[in-house]
Amino acid sequence: MKVIIPPIKCQGIKTRLVSLISDMARWDNRGIWIEPFLGSGVVGFNLARRRALFADTNPHTIAFYKALQDQKITPAIIKDFLQTEGTTLSRVGEAHYYAIRERFNREAAPLDFLFLNRACFNGVMRFNRKGGFNVPCCRKPDRFAQAYITKIVNQATAVYEHIHCSQWEFKVQQFTETIATSTPNDFIYADPPYVGRHLNYFESWDEIKEAKLFQSLSQGKARFILSTWEENTYRRNSFIDGLWGCFPRVSQQHFYHVGAP
Ligand SMILES: C[S@@+](CC[C@H](N)C(=O)[O-])C[C@H]1O[C@@H](n2cnc3c(N)ncnc32)[C@H](O)[C@@H]1O
Repeated sequence: MKVIIPPIKCQGIKTRLVSLISDMARWDNRGIWIEPFLGSGVVGFNLARRRALFADTNPHTIAFYKALQDQKITPAIIKDFLQTEGTTLSRVGEAHYYAIRERFNREAAPLDFLFLNRACFNGVMRFNRKGGFNVPCCRKPDRFAQAYITKIVNQATAVYEHIHCSQWEFKVQQFTETIATSTPNDFIYADPPYVGRHLNYFESWDEIKEAKLFQSLSQGKARFILSTWEENTYRRNSFIDGLWGCFPRVSQQHFYHVGAP
């Protein structure tokens, strides 16, 4: 399966699991593909051919894809922007990254978000308690070489083309609200932050939210797949055998390489 790679990166991105999720879902596209935890969007952008509801509490990823949908930003605009800001980054150095970070934390513009997402240290998306993006610079002033810009623009183009031939809705909302809209023809792919692991997303995740998610999914009307972690060298996820133990399980060994691709 040829996988569309989105232009926004985030921790826990499931690029390498898209084929497995596709095989497991056996989705007939009759209802709505629902993703309450959109993240980068890589799963839904590949599997939702017609209608989809893509939601997340991170307002910046949703704003970015909405701007692509509304054509407030286009691949050509992205190319111009990255060329201009990338050239300044090469000339001025890290100080320019921090100037853009400050501007983003004041104005929250989607293009600044893309710039930071693709130029930050280790490609992580992390915010402080006040919601400010706080990842340092990748320390490569020549980050936006022409080949890198072309790669990002191609990724944006692939998503842009799909957005404009599908009925996709993007929303900033809590997973409970998103799941509550599901009907029996729909399919939910739920990929929450991993419970018991310390990953910095826009919002924290804990046992209470995991229990709420279990309740929403098991009482909901749609079929669903949940992604979570099973074990690592040190620990096992007790929720796998406890809370989620009543559902069939498929395990896949999977490594995350946090780093700017
Ligand atoms: C593991 S990531 C999803 C990764 C995504 N499947 C991908 O492949 O890129 C989890 C996402 O859940 C979002 N999130 C965290 N708490 C949430 C909540 N209470 N409701 C909705 N989304 C939430 C985070 O902002 C993050 O984007």
